[in-house]
Amino acid sequence: MYMKGIILAGGAGSRLYPLTLVASKQLQPVYDKPMVYYPLTTLLENGVREFCLISTPQDLPRFRQLLGDGTSLGVTIEYREQPKPAGIAQAFLIAETFIGGDPVALILGDNLFYGGDSFLQAFKDFRTGATIFGYQVDDAERYGVVEFDAAGKAVSIEEKPISPRSNYAVPGLYLYDDQVVAITRALEPSPRGELEITDVNKEYLRRGALRVWRLSRGFAWLDAGTSSSLHDASAYVQTIEKRQGIKIGCPEEAAFRQGFLDLERLRLTVSRLPSCEYRAYLEKVVKESGASRAT
Ligand code: G1P
Repeated sequence: MYMKGIILAGGAGSRLYPLTLVASKQLQPVYDKPMVYYPLTTLLENGVREFCLISTPQDLPRFRQLLGDGTSLGVTIEYREQPKPAGIAQAFLIAETFIGGDPVALILGDNLFYGGDSFLQAFKDFRTGATIFGYQVDDAERYGVVEFDAAGKAVSIEEKPISPRSNYAVPGLYLYDDQVVAITRALEPSPRGELEITDVNKEYLRRGALRVWRLSRGFAWLDAGTSSSLHDASAYVQTIEKRQGIKIGCPEEAAFRQGFLDLERLRLTVSRLPSCEYRAYLEKVVKESGASRAT
C-alpha cells in the first residue's frame, strides 16, 4: 500500500558531542554522505513519495538546505519543528495535518538499513493497524524488545528492559494506519518524560492489530548514534560500496529506480552537482540506464 513518510531527525545529539555542536547528528557523515540520506533512501526504495521531515528549530534550516522541497528527487518534502524532544511518538502529533488520514511510515534519522528487499513485502501487504520489525541483536536491552510465542506471534514489547525476554530489537522503522494520531494523543509520557513509540506499539498489540516481521540474518541494521557506532556504520558502507561499486543511501538513484525521476530529469539533477565522486557515480547510473534502454 502507498504510504506517506516521516523522517524524525530531532534530538540533542548529546552522545555525539562535540560533533553535534554545530550540525545535528543526522547531518553527520556516514562514510560519503550525510546520515539522513540513508533513511530517506530506505523510504524512497519502498515507494514513499510524500515526506515530512521533523527536526529542531535550529537544525531544520540545514535540512531544508540539504534536501530542498524534494523537486530534484521527484517527491515532496515538508518540514516541521519539534521544539523540544518529547519522544519519538510526538512526531505523529507534530505531523498530524501531514498524515491527514493516510497510512504513514516513520523512520528514525539515525537508522541505517541495508540488504535486499526486506521491507518491500511489509509495505505492500500493509492495510491497517501497525507493522513493525524484529531484528536479532546482542544488546537488546538498549532497544525496544519484542517477545514471540512458540507460534511466532508477538506477545510483548518492552522499552529498554533490564532483562530482555528475547534478543529481538525493534528497529526504527514503523508503519501505521491513521489511528496512530489518536493513540498517541491518549498516551501518558513515560518516566523519562517522553511519548514512547513502544507505548504506541503496545496499544496496537493490545488491540490485536500489530504485525511484526522478523528481519533475516543477512540483513544489516545499524544505528549511528554514538561515535563508535557512527564509525562502524561508515566502515560498513565503505566496505560494501568499494566491493560492489554501488552506493548505499543514494536518494537520486533510488528516486530514479522508482520512476519518480525520468532519465532526463536525473541527467539534469546530475549536471548541477559539482565534480566529485558522488557525481561520477550518478553519471555511471545515467550511462548504464541509457545504454540498457537503447538495446
Ligand atoms: C528508540 C526507541 C526504541 C528503538 C530504537 C531504535 O530508542 O525508543 O524502541 O528500538 O529507537 O533505534 P532511542 O533511540 O530513543 O534510545
